[in-house]
Amino acid sequence: MRWHGVIHRYRDYLPVTEKTPVITLQEGNTPLIRADRLGEALDSRVELFLKFEGANPTGSFKDRGMTVAISKAVEEKMTAVVCASTGNTSASASAYAARAGCRAYVVVPKGNVAMGKLSQALMHGARLIQLQGNFDEAFEIVKSVAEKFPIALVNSINPFRIEGQKTAAFEVCEQLERSPDRVFIPVGNAGNISAYWKGFREYREAGRIQNLPRMIGWQAEGAAPLVRGEVVKHPETVASAIRIGNPANWSMARAAIEESHGEIGLVSDAEILDAYRQVAQLEGVFCEPASAAAVAGLVKQCREGKIPRGAQVVCILTGHGLKDSEVALTLAPPLQPVEANIEAVVEAMGLN
Ligand code: F0G
Repeated sequence: MRWHGVIHRYRDYLPVTEKTPVITLQEGNTPLIRADRLGEALDSRVELFLKFEGANPTGSFKDRGMTVAISKAVEEKMTAVVCASTGNTSASASAYAARAGCRAYVVVPKGNVAMGKLSQALMHGARLIQLQGNFDEAFEIVKSVAEKFPIALVNSINPFRIEGQKTAAFEVCEQLERSPDRVFIPVGNAGNISAYWKGFREYREAGRIQNLPRMIGWQAEGAAPLVRGEVVKHPETVASAIRIGNPANWSMARAAIEESHGEIGLVSDAEILDAYRQVAQLEGVFCEPASAAAVAGLVKQCREGKIPRGAQVVCILTGHGLKDSEVALTLAPPLQPVEANIEAVVEAMGLN
């Protein structure tokens, strides 16, 4: 059956009517990949799955929320959208706005956005504004812009974003044919963890699943306001997508964690990079560093003996590794070209 995107598939659960124009790139329906090799490498045996959201059309989970946010903006006769972003939201907003024939304004922190994401916004014709400031400052500014001008704000405080993103929880339940025991997920502006929790709750209310998972959120050590319980003024992490010190959806995320009997933890950049490499090398899945924070969290909890044997765990891999290939290349040894003959190549292969 042909896939037509998340609005088409989950219309009954979304705030759309026949009057809503559907702006879609056929997002969603992403793979839930069994990860036995990674599962076996962990200290406690878990049944592990990776929800690979990098397989969305612009390479991140943001597309699920953006199809709803942009469709509703067009329904409301808006002709321009704005967002602050660490990169993925700007890529997604730019793509969906292009498709809708709307103008996109995207404000990103200077110097801390992966090249792939910047190139996406530029290729889709967005007006890209690099801010001499961080994401939190950019976010405050775009909120004021959206109050003063007839421009739709498409950050995750826009409730339509959360509505669209909750469809990933529906898919996980359908793919597993039940709800997982635990969901490990990276947390930045804290919209996605809130969206998943909403999705699981709604699926249980609809009788589609019996149980609810624990939501286990992960922040980077240098950008962990939810873990520390206070705003981080100068967030720092290699995982630039989650380099956020004052998350917009703070209270919703806290509620998701408390209601699900979950928790929120932090992982170091070194742990993130280890997990990033492990997922790529043990499972053939290339995610971006922010996504690997969830896997790093799982590694940590398994080491601490916190996960019961046989638990069914889903890690949400929120974005594609190709977006941020600079980080991957910094981990590899420098490339040394060899002469164009078989002897040199065999030697470089380490076969003699
Ligand atoms: N993973 C990736 C790859 C992201 O891009 C983000 C957020 C997150 C995780 C965290 O999700 O914010 O809902 O808690 N990126 C936003 C952006 C902030 O601007 O692209 P969250």
